[in-house]
Amino acid sequence: MIQIRSEDEIDKMRTSCRIAAEAMEIARYEVKPGITTGKIAEKVQSFIEKKGAKPAFLGYNGYPGAICVSVNEEVVHGIPGNRVLEEGDLIKLDIGTYLDGFFGDMARSYPVGKISEDIKALIETTREAFYEGVGQAVSGNHVGDIGYAVQHYAEERGYGVVRALVGHGIGRNLHEDPQVPNFGVKGSGQRLKSGMILAIEPMINMGDWEVDVLSDDWTMVTSDGKMSAHYENTCVIREGYAEILTLLSGEEAWQKTTQ
Ligand code: MF3
Ligand code: CO
Repeated sequence: MIQIRSEDEIDKMRTSCRIAAEAMEIARYEVKPGITTGKIAEKVQSFIEKKGAKPAFLGYNGYPGAICVSVNEEVVHGIPGNRVLEEGDLIKLDIGTYLDGFFGDMARSYPVGKISEDIKALIETTREAFYEGVGQAVSGNHVGDIGYAVQHYAEERGYGVVRALVGHGIGRNLHEDPQVPNFGVKGSGQRLKSGMILAIEPMINMGDWEVDVLSDDWTMVTSDGKMSAHYENTCVIREGYAEILTLLSGEEAWQKTTQ
């Protein structure tokens, strides 16, 4: 069942999500050649804990990291550790928070130093695909409208849309109903209502959509070894728009109505 949250509950979500966004802000300035993925995770964890919140992924189904840090062909769920970032890498940071009973969840893709034009285009297209999806995340639409919009936008530009992993409802649990695929059929799936909260998170590949799991049982990689980007926000369904709770300062909400 998809939960409808009261404004009081949404306020709590807003606070949890704000901490995630501030943590992302801190993390993004650490992203440079020479730093390890583990060091970035450490800084994020100590910030989240200083704010009185918890890093939501730590221990989730046994996940060993405070956040997910995935590099290049790694799609999601990369475990932070000794890996040193190199000029030209594409890094995905996925940050979850838990505060006062409510979760926040967001991801961004960032360049490490100077990157190639084609990686830049992948990052931008993934962000744009998110906004295509969020533009459909309004009261009265269906879950399938979000996935259709994301898929159409990305595939038209020659990219692959990951299918093995999907977005999700979020609130008192990290993962709640409904599943929010980044592919689909217009008008299909559950109907969206004001007060529902979704984590919308396109994962877009430079090549094909297929992914595999590494032997650490967590890290998802593209099967063809090509680059992948990820962009995720926690969003409240409203009348005619979605309210994004995990924007960083300086990120403008590009909200459009479906009419
Ligand atoms: N952001 C991820 C998601 O949306 C959460 C990572 S799952 C974990 O599902 F197990 F790594 F925590
Ligand atoms: Co998520």
